Amino acid sequence: MKAFPLQLYRYASALLAIPRISVIVLRRLLQGKGSLSRRLEPLAVDLALQREVFALLRGFAPNIYVAKPFIRAYANSGTALVCRNSDVREVLDRHQDFEVVYGPRMEAVTGGYNFFLGMQDGPTYSRDVSNMRLAVRRTDPEQLLVPLAQGWAEQIIGGCGGQLDLPQQLGQQIPALMVQQYFGIQTPQRQQLIDWTTLLFWYLFVDLAADPDLDRRALEAGEQLRNAIDHEIQLRKASAGAPAPADDVLQRLLGMQAAALPGLDDLGIRNYLFGFLIGAIPTLSAAASQIIEVLLDRPAVLAKAQAAARSPDQQLLDGYIFEAFRFAPLNPVIYRRAVRKTTIARGSWRARSIPAGTMVLASNLSAMFDPIQVQHANRFWPQRPWYDYILWGYGMHTCAGAYINRALLPVMLRPLLRQANLRRAPGAAGQIDRAGTPFPVHQQLRFDATS
Ligand code: HEM
Repeated sequence: MKAFPLQLYRYASALLAIPRISVIVLRRLLQGKGSLSRRLEPLAVDLALQREVFALLRGFAPNIYVAKPFIRAYANSGTALVCRNSDVREVLDRHQDFEVVYGPRMEAVTGGYNFFLGMQDGPTYSRDVSNMRLAVRRTDPEQLLVPLAQGWAEQIIGGCGGQLDLPQQLGQQIPALMVQQYFGIQTPQRQQLIDWTTLLFWYLFVDLAADPDLDRRALEAGEQLRNAIDHEIQLRKASAGAPAPADDVLQRLLGMQAAALPGLDDLGIRNYLFGFLIGAIPTLSAAASQIIEVLLDRPAVLAKAQAAARSPDQQLLDGYIFEAFRFAPLNPVIYRRAVRKTTIARGSWRARSIPAGTMVLASNLSAMFDPIQVQHANRFWPQRPWYDYILWGYGMHTCAGAYINRALLPVMLRPLLRQANLRRAPGAAGQIDRAGTPFPVHQQLRFDATS
């Protein structure tokens, strides 16, 4: 399509969003139970509603600024919401003007140290990212992780008798096993690793209202995770010289320490692992649940995804998995703080002046549905080019686990998708239960077990 018809399409989508939003809200009012606020409560996490609201904003108010801070966890003087694809990418590309904010909370939970997701561009950031790229190698997903995860997933699905609580039995377990066997943090119970990292992720990235109770629990979890990593480092050092040391991330980091590479004293190694572990478990688990949820909502698409899972065509299955994730990404916005007074979308009618200190919410969810840059934006299209996706960040801080995610999510879900008559358990149990947290905690699925 040419630029002018695309613009028209964008405005038509924005106008159409108005009746669609009304229908979603009315349906909730009519079908819900209890008081008005109780009936409307689920709308806060209704992704179909969020997509329609963003369609409306992309058309008529793509860059909004209000002088009021909504995020309390990190200092700021106001809030901006950025919705169009090009503007979202602009904010995340301009890391000199829009900084990451996580530093203070990182330091609270690491015992005083920053981790590279909390750092601005500079020599320390480059050194730390480079060190971890040597230890977490680009070839690892294919050579090490996929074979391991394939075995774990097959075993879990084969042993569950057609009744699976997805987050508990598979979603959390596979990344936690990865942390133990590939990263090399084996000592704590797997459940402890899951609990600590989930709490820490919640505190660092999701607790925008700064809940004081969560603050206390996260500090405790931080201390326990630090101790666990330190303990593991000491165990490895005590067994130095063993005939066959493991080829895992921790062992590689210790090898780099022995070669006197900078940034790799015991404390440095602990901080690297601390950040990676927090990024790994709750994210992959939530992604697995949300992908399955999107597929279950679309029976015709689910049938095709299951056919793809039963075929040897890896790329076909990948298409269904990541396209489903586009409809329910882990985070609908990525937030940054304006370092100085600046302008977004300079030179266009939608140019917006942003005061220094503003928290800028760049909506990756909205960007992935912007019909100007994204082909067939509103369609479920498994052949979508990879460039359309902003599933795990964009720009300087793009997820360091990106290659792991891309390889592991299809491997985690393939054995489940191969099962006949895959469905939700009846009643409330079949719905995602977040149990008061931001993450899926229970999601009961059923399928016809073959043996
Ligand atoms: C589906 C799963 C995942 C999702 C959706 C996800 C999402 C993200 C996002 C959105 C960011 C950027 C945050 C920002 O710019 O503010 C990020 C960064 C990061 N993620 Fe992930 N992540 C996932 C899995 C993982 C895994 C498995 C690991 C570790 C093995 C990991 C480690 C990291 C690290 C270290 C960063 C910081 C990168 C940097 O600052 O340069 N993530 N992730």
